[in-house]
Amino acid sequence: MGSLDGKIVLITGTAGGQGRVAALAFAREGAKVVGCDIQVAANDETVELVRRAGGEMTGVAPIDLTDPDQARRVVEEAVAAYGGLDVVYNNAAMPRFGPLPGFSVEDWRATITGELDIPFFVSKFAWPHLVDRGGGVIVNIASMAGMIAGEVPPMVAHSAANAGIIGMTRQLALEGARHGIRAVTVSPGPVLTPASDRDLGDDQAARDAITRKTMLKRFARPEEIVELVVFLASDRAAYITGANYALDGGASAW
Ligand SMILES: NC(=O)c1ccc[n+]([C@@H]2O[C@H](COP(=O)([O-])OP(=O)(O)OC[C@H]3O[C@@H](n4cnc5c(N)ncnc54)[C@H](O)[C@@H]3O)[C@@H](O)[C@H]2O)c1
Repeated sequence: MGSLDGKIVLITGTAGGQGRVAALAFAREGAKVVGCDIQVAANDETVELVRRAGGEMTGVAPIDLTDPDQARRVVEEAVAAYGGLDVVYNNAAMPRFGPLPGFSVEDWRATITGELDIPFFVSKFAWPHLVDRGGGVIVNIASMAGMIAGEVPPMVAHSAANAGIIGMTRQLALEGARHGIRAVTVSPGPVLTPASDRDLGDDQAARDAITRKTMLKRFARPEEIVELVVFLASDRAAYITGANYALDGGASAW
């Protein structure tokens, strides 16, 4: 028996990285997964991987979650796919980085939209379905950048957007409590995904600069983030709401 047996879960950004690992882990625990992404082929590949592993997953792609109409549509498709919605896992994000002087207004707006609008839109449109169901869980992925400043790479909008996610999630928890809705933030430190591993290549100096602030002096594996979310989304975490979990190898503790 899985810890999420029968739960219907919408995960955003399932084409790769943490989202793909999340789809596999949630399906392994018995959830019915709806996974969406702006990338079609890679999202289809995730659906295929989940099904081959014996799990249940429906893919919705391409979908641009920065567009509120498309965010509403993906929620409606998720509800239609399996007849309701129990868990929203806001994982998708599209940040831009750069030092303040050269960071344009367009960069700022694109990052706030790509990181803060997406979980707001998806949570907003999912909300009435969670209320109809008598409750549910929203897990929002932020970043340690929402708690502490970050040097590499420079991240003015990323910091602001992720601090915004942490604040928004607290508020969702307060407003959701009377409906049986829990809302929790997970704030990862640096996570090594296939894409970031490829981008960093053999640049050891860049890798060291990124992991220096962690106590463990290494990146997280996507599984190390996702396993906490599996727990938080399950009924075993029934008393947890309004919290922000630093999952950053100790980076924000010193
Ligand atoms: N990788 C890290 O070091 C790190 C650190 C802290 C927090 N995070 C957070 O973890 C989450 C997952 O990141 P990841 O590392 O797996 O990154 P990723 O870039 O591999 O995955 C993000 C996914 O979201 C999708 N996406 C982006 N914009 C979209 C849009 N407008 N509509 C639909 N889908 C869209 C992308 O196509 C991609 O598949 C993000 O919220 C990120 O901010 C990552």
